[in-house]
Amino acid sequence: MSYKLANRVHKVQPSFTLQMATRAAEMRAEGIDVINFSVGEPDFNTPSHIIAAGKKAMDDGFTKYTAGPGMIEFRKAICEKLERENGITYEPADILVSNGEKQSLYNVCQAVFDQGDEVVVFRPYWVSFPEFVRLSDAEPILVDTISEHNFEPDFEDLEKKFSPNIKGVILNSPSNPTGGIWGEEAIIKLLHIAKKNNWIVISDECYERLVYDGEFVSTEKLNREHQIGADVITCLSLSKTYAMTGWRIGYAAGPRDIINAMSKIQGQATSCANSIGQKAGIEALSGDQSCVEEMKVAFKERRDFIIDLLNDLPGVTCAIPGGAFYAFPDFSPYLGKVGNGQILKDTFDISEYILGCANVVTVPGDGFGAPGHIRFSYATSTDIIEKGIERVRSVLEKIV
Ligand SMILES: Cc1ncc(COP(=O)(O)O)c(C=O)c1O
Repeated sequence: MSYKLANRVHKVQPSFTLQMATRAAEMRAEGIDVINFSVGEPDFNTPSHIIAAGKKAMDDGFTKYTAGPGMIEFRKAICEKLERENGITYEPADILVSNGEKQSLYNVCQAVFDQGDEVVVFRPYWVSFPEFVRLSDAEPILVDTISEHNFEPDFEDLEKKFSPNIKGVILNSPSNPTGGIWGEEAIIKLLHIAKKNNWIVISDECYERLVYDGEFVSTEKLNREHQIGADVITCLSLSKTYAMTGWRIGYAAGPRDIINAMSKIQGQATSCANSIGQKAGIEALSGDQSCVEEMKVAFKERRDFIIDLLNDLPGVTCAIPGGAFYAFPDFSPYLGKVGNGQILKDTFDISEYILGCANVVTVPGDGFGAPGHIRFSYATSTDIIEKGIERVRSVLEKIV
């Protein structure tokens, strides 16, 4: 090899949740009857009226570049949605449409962080947050959360990690991987800290419509209602709400100068988000919403089902997650024990043992900065959930 790869390639970790999903696909291709709890997307198809809008866009020849920040009709539909559902008013110029919310999050980090900056990321974290920060040459500062309190921030730990270099904070409620939802009080407290210290608040709200036991409240709504005045960038997605992961449509709403800076970066990276997805997105946000409710009812039923089964496993405890489609049980009683002749040092080992002996794919919590926990996605049928957890039980019983 005569060339040297850029340092940033060595700085980032590959997405190990994607690796686990790839592993499941490979095993299945080998003919193995594998049960996959690693999935990060709804198992439902995109609702038919949204698909029809995408097909119509293609038939109508709507297959060209759009305006860089997104079609004006789509940004208007986003503003109407944000006002109607989230109680926050914006103008289209405050919105940037991207190829998935992942690109929105990447854009905002690129637009606001520099070398020497630090960014607060709460642990357990979605795997991409620290990497977005590193890719912007800043450093993630990992702050603990309290598992008994819906994984809300441990404000004492935050205080210990205070530094003048902190320039931003990323929050994600409902959370991937915990499913935890922060109470309003915790969000308001964090907003006050952010305002006082001039931190930019990045609020990833992609699971906003998958909230089972209460009302979802946007961070920016609380920021405005309580007149806190923090700079909040709200990042949202069509992926989870409308089962549209492959369409790659997400967006950000926030202070116009930050949105413009993000738009400048996106313009040189991908020009615009895909045109067909934007047309389908208008239908998703403005059309019949009963599909969202139907999927939510199914997810809630599965959540209740899997939580009972997990809590029934020997030694395992699992809090009830308020949202998203992940359960995050604690397997720490198995750490240090022996499975299949191997010491189970961490959850990578436990997940590997479950995979090797039960053909069940899970995601080890160590990868999310949460030793002892394992993530189970319940975006799958109750029959599969039952079969999979029964397999897990049978191999846990063999651990000595
Ligand atoms: C917490 C979180 N944020 C953002 C995303 C990205 O969503 P999108 O498909 O819109 O890029 C995901 C996807 O798994 C996620 O779990």
